[in-house]
Amino acid sequence: MSTSELKTITVIGSGLIGRSWAMIFVSGGYRVNLYDNQPERAATAIAEIRKQLEELEKNHMLRGQLSTAQQLALLSSYEDLAQALEGAFFVQECIFEQLEAKQHIFQDIERLVGEDVILSSSTSGLVPSSIFSKVQNRSRCIVSHPVNPPYYVKLVELVPHPKTAATVMDHTFTLMTKVGQAPIRLRREIDGFALNRVQAAIIAESWRLVQDGVISVKDIDLVMSEGMGMRYAFIGPMETMHLNAPEGLEDYMKRYGEGITRNLTSFGPVPNFFGEEAKSIFKEMCELIPSDQQHLSARRDRRDQLLLGLAKLKKDH
Ligand SMILES: NC(=O)c1ccc[n+]([C@@H]2O[C@H](COP(=O)([O-])OP(=O)(O)OC[C@H]3O[C@@H](n4cnc5c(N)ncnc54)[C@H](O)[C@@H]3O)[C@@H](O)[C@H]2O)c1
Ligand SMILES: *[C@@H]1O[C@H](CO)[C@@H](O)[C@H](O)[C@H]1NC(C)=O
Ligand SMILES: *[C@@H]1O[C@H](CO)[C@@H](O)[C@H](O)[C@H]1NC(C)=O
Repeated sequence: MSTSELKTITVIGSGLIGRSWAMIFVSGGYRVNLYDNQPERAATAIAEIRKQLEELEKNHMLRGQLSTAQQLALLSSYEDLAQALEGAFFVQECIFEQLEAKQHIFQDIERLVGEDVILSSSTSGLVPSSIFSKVQNRSRCIVSHPVNPPYYVKLVELVPHPKTAATVMDHTFTLMTKVGQAPIRLRREIDGFALNRVQAAIIAESWRLVQDGVISVKDIDLVMSEGMGMRYAFIGPMETMHLNAPEGLEDYMKRYGEGITRNLTSFGPVPNFFGEEAKSIFKEMCELIPSDQQHLSARRDRRDQLLLGLAKLKKDH
């Protein structure tokens, strides 16, 4: 048995992301204490996780070396915060995306754990200096931002507080790697971190092209899914450029840098995502996929199945 099997991680909040973290950590052999402040919710979440793990095992997509039964045996639910934190070396917070609630829970958590315990938040949009402003020892704090659904999409953005200790960043990086995620390090905090900033740039130009009547909603999505996305599941924009000129990135910029600069200066201001101007884009999207629950959840299931297939493919490469 590896030593990690004796180690405990506390997951705070048992919603979509908390359940995913719990599944990922037990797959790496860690004991997981799952806590939620709503009665019954953590226990219900474990029942849900059981179903998901069984399904994954059936599809040969269960992560880690342990069986479903062994993974489930590592998982316990709690309705008492102090009990949930007992013995933990790492805390992953996944409560609602609300600043005051996060500040408050980290204040509570800090009072209940030893000084070496790492406090990590799943926040998608709040910067560490805001979230951890009520924690005394901020050198132990970090954001570990997952991407939905984290079981298949493995990126974790590690974002430090200005005071985060290098060792805390390193330990978190090692832990994430050990459980099979793909951590990256931001060197300092920034609004939107890296993924959401890049995503905003893509959204903005896609929106402008549709709004300016250059292309349809359907076709701009194909630009990504049948074009750029084919590469991006395996190599990023930097390597793509490096490979696309005979002598690499510098050569690429010699050839295409001016064109890219000119394209960028023609981009125009931040598009209007609201009001009358946006309505026709909403309508065009809903003609493709109506926004009622039935259609949306069918497409979400399809997305998750496709991501599962892609995750399988990436596992073999
Ligand atoms: N959903 C995503 O796509 C996604 C992706 C990356 C990061 N995140 C981040 O993860 C966090 C959780 O998101 P989610 O989608 O799982 O939310 P969710 O609404 O599904 O789950 C939140 C859970 O936290 C519990 N909770 C709320 N306040 C609590 C408290 N004080 N103590 C204990 N439990 C509490 C709720 O009962 C609920 O079960 C958010 O910060 C979100 O920004 C979400
Ligand atoms: C603050 O946190 C760091 C990192 O976990 C730890 O090494 C240090 O002992 C803590 N300091 C205090 C005063 O608790
Ligand atoms: C846009 O970029 C392409 C090549 O990347 C270049 O050929 C073209 O001239 C640019 N056009 C504008 C208007 O920026």
